[in-house]
Amino acid sequence: MLKGRSLLEPMDFSLEELEDIFALAKEIMKEPAKYIHVADGKLLATLFYEPSTRTRFSFEAAMLRLGGQVIGFSEANSSSAAKGESIADTVRTVGCYADLIVMRHPKEGAPRIGAGASDVPMINAGDGGHQHPTQTLTDLLTIQCDKGRLDNLTIGICGDLKFGRTVHSLMKAMSRYKNIRFILISPEELMIPDYVRKEVLEKNNIFFEEVRRLEEAIDRVDVLYMTRVQKERFFNEEDYVRLKDSYILDAEKMEKASKDMIILHPLPRVNEIAVEVDKDPRALYFEQAKKGMFVRMALIMKLLGIEEGSVN
Ligand code: NCD
Repeated sequence: MLKGRSLLEPMDFSLEELEDIFALAKEIMKEPAKYIHVADGKLLATLFYEPSTRTRFSFEAAMLRLGGQVIGFSEANSSSAAKGESIADTVRTVGCYADLIVMRHPKEGAPRIGAGASDVPMINAGDGGHQHPTQTLTDLLTIQCDKGRLDNLTIGICGDLKFGRTVHSLMKAMSRYKNIRFILISPEELMIPDYVRKEVLEKNNIFFEEVRRLEEAIDRVDVLYMTRVQKERFFNEEDYVRLKDSYILDAEKMEKASKDMIILHPLPRVNEIAVEVDKDPRALYFEQAKKGMFVRMALIMKLLGIEEGSVN
């Protein structure tokens, strides 16, 4: 039962619960018109203390497409945070108005603090370099729709594995499926954090390899997950400038990839995928963004306890 629960990290839900969300998302994708009134009278609050395009818009679009309404802010300066209000107090107050709260925050753990301050379900829409569970739902649904499975996969993850929260969430979520292998492609400075190495990979005996060059991995992966170098998490501009163009996936590199390999990217892209790759049928990142809205529609329905039986 997902009604009333919060989603702070992917492991908060069991594999069966995730499967239920994906099944509902697929139903909604088939016939979205059937769902346009299921959340009539419900209110979603979006508390975004950090910039966002896809995540905020896809949540807002998801709620509106279910018939619900949305309130919120998209920068901390326009909220009482600017006056020094604590996260707990803001969430406790917003919880008096809304049925569901979505929070993005630059500090790791902020949504968890918020979740403790109100009974209203809280969704973590990205906390610092830590986790981004709804991006992971989007990623898993995209992989499942294309590959027909979430097990027996070799996944290449390329770019900023140190600060990329989508990477940490994805690895954690994938660690529960059978026979997953990771090829981790990053510069030395942007390798996965120690806690991911120990608590996710080593603890679950997951096979992983770490390489420096995309060319060493591209012909061996089923899924290539590209990421941008997370400029906002660097302490100095110089390091960012040095590392930002470490990887650029272009048509020439794609020639070495298998015809079934798919490219995912949480977006926004900066330079890491050349625009010429967009027309390659294996480039699924915009399709992935679209699925993000449908999976959030399914998630909202589940957390609000909207029965699929109420759809007519
Ligand atoms: C990601 C994020 O915010 O972590 N974007 C998103 O939500 N799709 C990835 C990124 O910003 O690089």
